[in-house]
Amino acid sequence: FTVDWDAGHYDNGGYEHYLLKEISEQPDTVARTLRGRIDDRFHIAHLGGLNMDARETRSFRRVKIIGCGSAYYSGQIGAQLIEELARIPADAEPASEFRYRSPVVEPDTLYVAISQSGETYDTLAAVQELKRKGGRVLGIVNTVGSAIARETDGGIYLHAGPEVSVASTKAFTSTAVAFALLALHLGRVRDLSPADGRRICDGLRRLPEQIKEILTLEDQIRELAKKYADAPGMMFVGRVRGYPVAREGAQKLKEISYVHAEAYPASELKHGPLALISPELPTVAVVPDDELLDKNLTTLGEIRARDGRILMVGHRTSEAADDCIVVPRNEVELDPILLTIPLQLFAYHAAVALGRDVDRPRNLAKSVTVE
Ligand code: G6P
Repeated sequence: FTVDWDAGHYDNGGYEHYLLKEISEQPDTVARTLRGRIDDRFHIAHLGGLNMDARETRSFRRVKIIGCGSAYYSGQIGAQLIEELARIPADAEPASEFRYRSPVVEPDTLYVAISQSGETYDTLAAVQELKRKGGRVLGIVNTVGSAIARETDGGIYLHAGPEVSVASTKAFTSTAVAFALLALHLGRVRDLSPADGRRICDGLRRLPEQIKEILTLEDQIRELAKKYADAPGMMFVGRVRGYPVAREGAQKLKEISYVHAEAYPASELKHGPLALISPELPTVAVVPDDELLDKNLTTLGEIRARDGRILMVGHRTSEAADDCIVVPRNEVELDPILLTIPLQLFAYHAAVALGRDVDRPRNLAKSVTVE
């Protein structure tokens, strides 16, 4: 089930854990994913590794994204970016589900496989099945020359450097950034205006500095993590752009702190999980300042009315929440990338407070190379 894990030859940079090192590296890793890929003349992305001309890039009518674990959640952010910026229907699915259900493979669908390691067996097997059926598959991969990088028709390397800690952090944000570049690329050969292209290019360039700003919130987040870490479980909610962020936040908490965490679309709470809300089950609410802000604040009111405690992650403070982590705004499409980072720090400090083996959580492997 596991692969060899030998961190011995990687420098921990003076950090207590690789996970904190990798979280802290993100201003730099995001900059590396962007480097040389933004074109300010036409407000497009340069992605030479896709191996596709403009005519072929225009020919796709759907995008299907596959990956496992955090790669799958970053794919959900990617699907939203592609729908929003390129107006191509896109969705993400766990690679294992995709391959076991004998998928219909269509020539006008662009398939995108995501993998930090490039070796995850379920993702690799899905790519091989797609190739066998004649599908066009791109890879968004961190590890150069890995199996998935070799099997795909082209793709985008993350250039995030080796990720040692089992739980993914910097590869997650770099994947979301790579999807923003891909969405810009697909959008600008279609109907995305030069002005919107420029808005996204400028937003992408602001990310590294804004991530640095978020990292300065670490002391506040450490205290909040201590405050909430003894809860037997936590609910994570978000709407649309906030939902994959909530899923990844819950995933991080589960993986490294072993605290039960469940992520739900905020609107679905009233269809079941609201019955769970009590002071013992605090909620982390992902609430960006977008067109859904009022709806999200209504949800917070519903949780409050059931005596639920709320930690809100967003762009403002709100009296509807007990605690708030405020991150800088970017363009609404790119905000999920920034909103993820406080949740990484929250999971990390919850795990430390609970005395967990942060870099090597029980029962998990960095790369799952078997079925
Ligand atoms: C394992 C790791 C996760 C990771 C997933 C996919 O389950 O514990 O952190 O997200 O594999 O890995 P990949 O290398 O394909 O991105």
